[in-house]
Amino acid sequence: MRIMVTGGAGFIGSALVRRLIAHTDHQVLVFDKLTYAGVLSSLESVDASDRYRFIRADICDPDAVAKALKDFRPNVVAHLAAESHVDRSIDGPGEFVQTNLVGTFVMLNQSLGYWRTLQGDEKADFRFHHISTDEVFGSLGDHGAFTETTPYDPRSPYSASKAGSDHLVRAWGHTYGLPVLITNCSNNYGPFHFPEKLIPLIIIRALGGEALPVYGDGSNVRDWLHVDDHARALKTVFETGRPGETYNVGGNAERTNIEVVTTICKILDRLRPRTGGKPYADQISYVADRPGHDHRYAIDASKITADLGWTPSVTFEEGIEQTVLWYLENQAWWQDILDVRYATQRLGVATHG
Ligand code: NAD
Ligand code: DAU
Repeated sequence: MRIMVTGGAGFIGSALVRRLIAHTDHQVLVFDKLTYAGVLSSLESVDASDRYRFIRADICDPDAVAKALKDFRPNVVAHLAAESHVDRSIDGPGEFVQTNLVGTFVMLNQSLGYWRTLQGDEKADFRFHHISTDEVFGSLGDHGAFTETTPYDPRSPYSASKAGSDHLVRAWGHTYGLPVLITNCSNNYGPFHFPEKLIPLIIIRALGGEALPVYGDGSNVRDWLHVDDHARALKTVFETGRPGETYNVGGNAERTNIEVVTTICKILDRLRPRTGGKPYADQISYVADRPGHDHRYAIDASKITADLGWTPSVTFEEGIEQTVLWYLENQAWWQDILDVRYATQRLGVATHG
């Protein structure tokens, strides 16, 4: 198969591309603008493969998208390119509307034009797969989990833009017959995660002897999934999922933020003890909450398990240990980012009115 991956230089996109090159015979085209979040060194391990190609371009540019589709002739468009960080969406929502809504519209419209030129099995087997988030469903109380039929209730500029893009994808499926798939996934973690997100930010700041910022009282809950399990789920869905369907993807690993932060501190106490012997947890600092902070996310992933046989394979305890070790062993990857792109300062403190 030929798979076009938008956002392939990002955290999840690069994990998908590494998996496709290492474990399949598929041809892969990465289509990525290389924003602040696009990191080419995350794709170093596939660079030499003759099944891998890269185009630097913007999903909002219809001509660039049309040319890539015409030249590469994908069987699957795996659409991951997006602005992905909630805190940045509070500071600058315009970029989220542009990339996530307008960009997805351009991807859909150009994919439709390309799909209409296909014939026979190539046309029947084409898939447009939109990679989305559980945040479109809003915030849960202490019980229950999001299913594929939970009503949408997005509450941040990021999640509103992703909800809108999901609606566009469904509209292109219903109205024009484009064979679309949507996955809504919970919080990912693992190697090559950009240091603006909770887990890498805490590891890196801990190693630097800096305060470990926990928003509010640390009781917010996220449902964590290892990024390699997500990449495996994406491959399963675009290879075997039913067009028009939505699949929720999650790791059955709910943790409060303070549990996550203290777990990282304990692993570091063991793997890289502080000079002087004090525990890393001494660096924890409760800070002003994220405006509009969603309380809890939890995914019911029983549909993808029942229909397609996918289950998560990495427990949170195994995955977080491996992840901390990866950041210890790959300082060059994140130090480059800290030096020129983003140095782990607080984002997203804008307030209402
Ligand atoms: P990321 O921020 O790490 O990477 C985004 C990538 O998209 C970058 O390589 C960036 O350069 C590229 N990009 C941004 N704007 C672009 C544009 N206009 N044209 C072309 N490329 C552009 O994001 P991620 O965490 O890997 O998330 C990937 C997708 O998965 C997103 O759609 C996100 O909403 C979704 N998602 C993420 C998570 C998570 O926990 N990180 C969970 C569920 C769903
Ligand atoms: O649920 C899926 C979503 O998970 C994805 O759609 C998003 O792209 C992804 O960024 C992630 O969103 P979150 O907002 O949940 O992730 P983040 O890492 O920013 O924050 C996780 C939790 O930790 C959240 O409750 C806020 C909190 N937090 C975050 C940071 C950066 C802190 O307490 N301190 C911090 O410094």
